[in-house]
Amino acid sequence: MTDTSNQMWGGRFAAGPDAIMEAINASIDFDKRLARQDIDGSRAHAAMLAACGIISDSDADAIREGLLTVLSEIETGKFEFSKALEDIHMNIEARLKEIIGEPAGRLHTGRSRNDQVATDFRLWVRDQIDEVDAALVALCKALVAQAESGADWVMPGFTHLQTAQPVTWGHHMLAYVEMFARDLSRFRDARARMNESPLGAAALAGTSFPIDRDMTAQALGFDRPAANSLDGVSDRDFALEFLSAASICAMHLSRLAEELVIWSSAQFRFVTLSDRFSTGSSIMPQKKNPDAAELIRAKIGRIFGANVALMTVMKGLPLTYSKDMQEDKEQTFDAADNLMLALAAMEGMVKDMQANRASLEAAASSGFSTATDLADWLVRELGLPFRDAHHITGALVARAETRGVDLPDLTLEEMQNVHPDIRAEVFDVLGVHNSVASRTSYGGTAPLRVREQIARWKGILG
Ligand code: ARG
Repeated sequence: MTDTSNQMWGGRFAAGPDAIMEAINASIDFDKRLARQDIDGSRAHAAMLAACGIISDSDADAIREGLLTVLSEIETGKFEFSKALEDIHMNIEARLKEIIGEPAGRLHTGRSRNDQVATDFRLWVRDQIDEVDAALVALCKALVAQAESGADWVMPGFTHLQTAQPVTWGHHMLAYVEMFARDLSRFRDARARMNESPLGAAALAGTSFPIDRDMTAQALGFDRPAANSLDGVSDRDFALEFLSAASICAMHLSRLAEELVIWSSAQFRFVTLSDRFSTGSSIMPQKKNPDAAELIRAKIGRIFGANVALMTVMKGLPLTYSKDMQEDKEQTFDAADNLMLALAAMEGMVKDMQANRASLEAAASSGFSTATDLADWLVRELGLPFRDAHHITGALVARAETRGVDLPDLTLEEMQNVHPDIRAEVFDVLGVHNSVASRTSYGGTAPLRVREQIARWKGILG
């Protein structure tokens, strides 16, 4: 080996890499985030090698102790990362050799960086899912708390962002709980599927050493070893499932964020966001901007981008490992960081926001929001076919619109001019509270149903 060739794999090389080669090849700047998982994996591997009689107990002990020293150096910022050593795996092994000497060279028996990185990255994504899980539960709890404080407050329900029918604030908040809870179940499904250990797949074909893959799988909290070594080193579908679930979750976050942007505007005034999650304008003193919501709305771009980028990296790769796959990490780290940030910001905003009951109710009562209730009344009480009732209601809406009033402001006489059989009781269904209270079908917006769902979610979320 010459002085400049790589100390880990440079045996057949006469010279070290070109600087550009080093720059494109090195992953240490980002994969140093796998340090803890790498050390956990190596410690499990060393213990297994000793248990199987492949290395001595004293070598395994030295390796396991030395790795803890390396970990503490990394965690306390004392570790000097080297680009020449390419990645986290070789940086750690090289430092281990400096600390414990010769036994360090035995650690890599019966494994390769291919199964090593596949294991480390799985462990990292799995840890990340556990963090996302907790953040989603916290967000759902904040939404349930909002639902509870305004279970029967009326607000306009929209389609096409046009006033459609009155709904309850609690119902609207719980719609998001349903979405985020499905996100949670997607992350949990992905976690269960990815929880197989690639360690021991070695470079790609397995190994002739008598290793015990069940032992390392168990030590690392995996359910079982991956059954095919080629697959174990070469798929990154676990990261893609994480990014797909993250993309869907980010999409949901961005919808809620968009609603908060709209709702906090002077035109809506449905909610007041706390100062803690807003910013001011340097020129317009009256402004309070929903920046956190806007940034959540925007962050989906990078999360979708990571998903597409990794899909693109993986498509068309022949089995098994190719260096392309080193590009799996940066995108996933970035998406995970931004998802966590978006979830935390959303939880904070939801917790702090004040729904403005009076504005919600005033908006619910305008825009002919109870026109469907009127049409339903004509069907129920006068026995009209729904299509006729729809037409008559349309005529009444047009009448109210010309007069610049809402449906409950029409006189009985005006109504009877359109259909002579309409009676005074019709006014009961034109009030927004009666309207929402009447929608008691399962999953409907009636406060009665909303309170049942709040109780259900409290049971599930704890
Ligand atoms: N840094 C590499 C990666 O992230 C580790 C695996 C390298 N394997 C290899 N055969 N060169 O993919």
